[in-house]
Amino acid sequence: MQEPKVLIFDDVDKLAEDFTNHFISLMKLKTGNFHIALSGGSTPKVWFEHLVKNHKYDIDWARVQLFWGDERCVPPIDEDSNYGMTKKYLLDHINIPKENIHRIFGELNPEEAVPLYEKELSNVLPNKDEVPVFDLVILGMGADGHTASIFPHQIELWDSDQYSVVAKHPETGQRRISLSGKVINKSRSIAFLVTGENKAAKIMEILHKTKDSDNYPASRVAPEKNNLYWFLDKAAASQIQI
Ligand code: 6PG
Repeated sequence: MQEPKVLIFDDVDKLAEDFTNHFISLMKLKTGNFHIALSGGSTPKVWFEHLVKNHKYDIDWARVQLFWGDERCVPPIDEDSNYGMTKKYLLDHINIPKENIHRIFGELNPEEAVPLYEKELSNVLPNKDEVPVFDLVILGMGADGHTASIFPHQIELWDSDQYSVVAKHPETGQRRISLSGKVINKSRSIAFLVTGENKAAKIMEILHKTKDSDNYPASRVAPEKNNLYWFLDKAAASQIQI
C-alpha cells in the first residue's frame, strides 16, 4: 500500500478550493458517469457552500451519480439526515437530474433500507470482483476515529461481506446505515476531508500508525488502487510531522 497523500491547508476555504479542483480533475480522467459517495456530518457543508458559490457551473452534473457513504436512520427532513443536509447545501442549488440522486431511505426500517440500497449500488455502479466500484468516496472522520458510520465499538462491521451494514452510534444509540469497508476500499479514489483541532490526535495516530491506530475504522481505509488523499486543515494536522 502506497503512503496516502496528505494535503494541509491554512484554512477550510483553501481546502475546499483545492478539493474542488481535485474532484474536477478526477472527473476529467474518465468519460460517462462519475460515481461518488458523499460523507455526512458538518464538514461537507463547507465544501458544498464553496462549490455552489464558485464552481456550480464548472461541473457537468448530468454525469454525476450521487450516493452516500452513510445515512442516519431518520426521515430526509430530519435535521440529522445526511441527505437532508446535502439537499439544503448542495442539491437545491445545482442542476442535477433527480434520477442521479441515490439516497439511503433513512425513513424506512434499516432491515428494509439496506437491501434497497444494495440493489441500487449493484444496478448503477460498475463492479469488480462482484463489488460495486465508486470513482470517488469522500469520507469524514470523527474524533473517535470512526468513518462513514463504522464506529470503533463495532469495528467488525468494517469487514462485513455485505455492501452496507446497520450500525449504532455509541453514545446516542441512533441507528445508521453505512457502506462497509469492502465497498469503500474498492473505490478508485478516496478522499478524507477532516478539519478541526478535535481530530488532530487521531489523525496523528492513524498517519503515524501508532500501536492503537488499528482500532480506529478510519485506519482501515486502504483503497486497492492506492489513491488515498487526506485533505486536512492546519488544526486537524497540528500533531503530525510530514
Ligand atoms: C456522519 C458521517 C461521519 C462524519 C464524521 C465527521 O454521518 O456523521 O458520515 O462519518 O463524517 O462524524 O463529522 P463532522 O464533519 O461533523 O466532524
